[in-house]
Amino acid sequence: MTTTLAFDVYGTLIDTHGMIQALEREIGERATAFSHAWREKQLEYAFRRGLMQNYRDFGVCTAQALDFTCARFGLDLDAARREALLGLYQHLPAFADAGTGLEQAGRAGFRLYAFSNGSATAVTRLLDHAGLGGYFEGIVSTDELCSFKPNPAVYSYFLRRAEATGDQAWLISSNPFDVIGAISAGMRGAWIRRSPDALFDPWEIEPSLTLEGLAPLAGAITGLGRRGVE
Ligand code: 2OP
Repeated sequence: MTTTLAFDVYGTLIDTHGMIQALEREIGERATAFSHAWREKQLEYAFRRGLMQNYRDFGVCTAQALDFTCARFGLDLDAARREALLGLYQHLPAFADAGTGLEQAGRAGFRLYAFSNGSATAVTRLLDHAGLGGYFEGIVSTDELCSFKPNPAVYSYFLRRAEATGDQAWLISSNPFDVIGAISAGMRGAWIRRSPDALFDPWEIEPSLTLEGLAPLAGAITGLGRRGVE
């Protein structure tokens, strides 16, 4: 069976901190801290809504997290500037290695999917804008289940949608909670350690593979398969 790769989108293919310059115009040197706080709150809201079964689209988590972060940093945005920031979030840039990594994975014969908390509409727009839309056989969104990662049901749903089995499917993500969620649900998980400062949670579950970026991904998974590890 052909191996299927499910690429996480936000933080793995797309740089969620790619709007720091725009944030600098709003909040100066605190832009990086603001961007990280915004992202953390966005994920926290998705986790909480998933647990509470009080679902709203990931875009709502993003917008409400922005409002919270503005309050925390004392940034008083008028409606137009708030909309402008949320608009930029819908057109974030790709990481520099995303195109190469996807192209090599496609050429190596893997089946490629985007798999995200973002709605299919938002993810399609984001990937198309970043020039990555053409690489995928499909886009699977947790929105179709009205839930979020790392609910085990969303990984099972991915496998059903992609007609793949867990032992032949990899989740590729920079988000440790996503890698742990996928492995816990029976998939393989590659952790893309996008920064030397990034830490993996010290749980009893470790990544099947850890890489510094996406460029070596296809070679590394192919190598594991040859050694019979895959
Ligand atoms: C994604 O699903 C978790 O934000 C991440 O794209």
